[in-house]
Amino acid sequence: MLNKTVRLANGYEIPSIGFGTWQTPDGCTAIRAVKEALDHGYMHIDCAAVYGNEKSIGKALKKSGIDRKKLFITSKLWNTERGYDKTLAAFEQTLSDLQLDYLDLYLIHWTANAKQFPNWKELNADTWRAFETLYKQGKIRSIGVSNFKKHHLEALIADSTIKPMINQIEFHPGFMQKETVDFCHENRIVVEAWSPLGTGKMLNNEILKTIAEKYHVSVAQLCIRWCLQNNVIPLPKSVTPNRIQENIDVYDFEISDEDMAAINEMKYCGGSGLDPDEIDF
Ligand SMILES: NC(=O)c1ccc[n+]([C@@H]2O[C@H](COP(=O)([O-])OP(=O)(O)OC[C@H]3O[C@@H](n4cnc5c(N)ncnc54)[C@H](OP(=O)(O)O)[C@@H]3O)[C@@H](O)[C@H]2O)c1
Repeated sequence: MLNKTVRLANGYEIPSIGFGTWQTPDGCTAIRAVKEALDHGYMHIDCAAVYGNEKSIGKALKKSGIDRKKLFITSKLWNTERGYDKTLAAFEQTLSDLQLDYLDLYLIHWTANAKQFPNWKELNADTWRAFETLYKQGKIRSIGVSNFKKHHLEALIADSTIKPMINQIEFHPGFMQKETVDFCHENRIVVEAWSPLGTGKMLNNEILKTIAEKYHVSVAQLCIRWCLQNNVIPLPKSVTPNRIQENIDVYDFEISDEDMAAINEMKYCGGSGLDPDEIDF
């Protein structure tokens, strides 16, 4: 039996499936999608300032009337806001947009990289100091990063007092980022999977279709369950009511060791193509 929550290194519990909100249009679509997700039991919503829809998500959270303590809300600091003072200001903006008085998780959206910043290590460390301040003030219950590879994590850990509790990375069949995931698990950093369906690119894969048929589930459900069985928290996104429901209905089947191995061994079959060391945004 899989647990429906995962314990972070600081003891805080995170629901083991989160609801993605990237490319969810701002306004009534975002409000409706989040309402639908909450109605189907997603208590964990993955947001980001750069998605441009935090105000709408804030409205949906407020309207739901759900006890704040039951919700787990994540946001991310965008790349233009790195550095100590800018991070503090960006955080306050996100909190106000979401109409919240604390976040459950705040992430550095992308590592600064050597290609753009000769001082990338210092820049990440300065940003992280602001995260530590907000964490100590109780304004964020857990802090983490996104799109950090092993060498980015090593540099940050060497330069800080609190280790990231989460690393959110691209993770789907054919793209498992094993070195990063192993490093995270060895260091009690929980891994979250962005694009667990490869932004839809996994859904017509023949290997996945054949395995999904065996369990009478959809390829989306197979990918989500596969993340969970790899101890990774999936963040599926959808604006479509029946898909939103389907994507959280993954607790009553189990992928066999043999099928897990077959999926784990799949070759690259599509993804974002983004490498944190190469990005220029
Ligand atoms: N940290 C980062 O840098 C980063 C980067 C990318 C994403 N993320 C996070 O990860 C979340 C998920 O990644 P993602 O948005 O790339 O996409 P995803 O969850 O991998 O795939 C979403 C796509 O699949 C479709 N879909 C969802 N469920 C389906 C189902 N059951 N059957 C058929 N189609 C289905 C959706 O369509 P409809 O919506 O039209 O139903 C949408 O086109 C994001 O929303 C965001 O929160 C983070």
